[in-house]
Amino acid sequence: MVETAVLQLFFDCACCKKLNMSSIMSLRRVILFLSTLTASLAVEGPFDNAEHELQRRQAGVPNYVLEYAPLVWLQSSEQYHPSDIGAQLVHTKPEVNFTIVKDLPNPLTLDNLNALNADGGKDVYLTSVDDITKAPAWLNGIVPDATGKTNGAVSSVIVVNDHGSGNVDAFYFYFYAYNQGDTVLGQELGDHVGDWEHNMIRFKNGIPQAVWFSQHDNGEAFTYNCLEKQGQRVVAYSAKGTHAVYATAGTHDHTIPDLNLDQGLIEDHCDQGVRWDPTLNAYWYRYDAASSSFSPYSSSEPVGYLLYAGQWGDQQYPDSDPRQREFFGFAKYTSGPTGPADKQLNRTQVCPDNGYLCIVRPVLGP
Ligand SMILES: *[C@@H]1O[C@H](CO)[C@@H](O)[C@H](O)[C@H]1NC(C)=O
Ligand SMILES: *[C@@H]1O[C@H](CO)[C@@H](O)[C@H](O)[C@H]1NC(C)=O
Repeated sequence: MVETAVLQLFFDCACCKKLNMSSIMSLRRVILFLSTLTASLAVEGPFDNAEHELQRRQAGVPNYVLEYAPLVWLQSSEQYHPSDIGAQLVHTKPEVNFTIVKDLPNPLTLDNLNALNADGGKDVYLTSVDDITKAPAWLNGIVPDATGKTNGAVSSVIVVNDHGSGNVDAFYFYFYAYNQGDTVLGQELGDHVGDWEHNMIRFKNGIPQAVWFSQHDNGEAFTYNCLEKQGQRVVAYSAKGTHAVYATAGTHDHTIPDLNLDQGLIEDHCDQGVRWDPTLNAYWYRYDAASSSFSPYSSSEPVGYLLYAGQWGDQQYPDSDPRQREFFGFAKYTSGPTGPADKQLNRTQVCPDNGYLCIVRPVLGP
């Protein structure tokens, strides 16, 4: 706003015929004054702190990574919303083999979480301090506001991998404190603390080519052109409870990977419930594949948690735990997931290399 005022002033004065030395001098003083004012406003942020915070975080991020970023519809009866990544550390204690890890950094933060790698690598589980069967409120996350923002919660991580020659992959990770599994033949199976899902958009010279949607052990890829969009932005649907990411609303059966049906044994349900804009509360990073390292676009953002090799929720409860239930070999409570670094950030194809076919669907469907 101040910048506009300066420009307007300059324009008005440059147009006036009687431009003399003293008016130029006073104009310079006005500009100097206004630019000092702008600088002090930028620090104190009386307009809108949140706006400045957003600009600081996104500075340096390629425009197209923002312009085409997914908008996510949460399902209308969702109970487990996007959650603050750092809050997960407040409500959990790291355990290995159901035993609390001793001599932790104090406090444990997103900056130093990777210190736990020395205590057991992948065998470390961020384990809920509360009994999750008592439905502690923190599992519910934050319902996005009318603008799509999860207020007070940084609930997404956006990672840009520039392969060179105009080939850029942007990963949009979505974090939820809790995953409620699907109900199969009346049994709810596969509940776990901590849930990381993602989209990936593959760009060529700033133009989106294809988009990956993560779903359980696998997912689906579509051409950008065939997808539902809002403006230029990809529209994604987060399934109720499991938060698997789909390109269409409705019911999705995922009993057999790569065979997507609209009904079956294990169904996910999506609709246009609450709109979430993951770019409004995100941490942003460049990823360097050669060194497997992350550099934040804004220097104040944490990195350690991205290097943490362990899991983001409780370890699967043993059968001896009274909370646990088994149904045809499937457990009600399973283990929490690993984080973004474990999702193949340097891909050859738009799909991760996981043994399934990579089909980039040119027609939108379930
Ligand atoms: C966990 O405990 C079990 C039984 O006490 C033991 O057999 C197993 O090796 C332990 N695993 C780890 C990762 O320490
Ligand atoms: C990353 O992927 C590219 C292909 O885009 C490949 O050439 C390169 O070797 C990969 N780097 C690593 C460290 O795997």
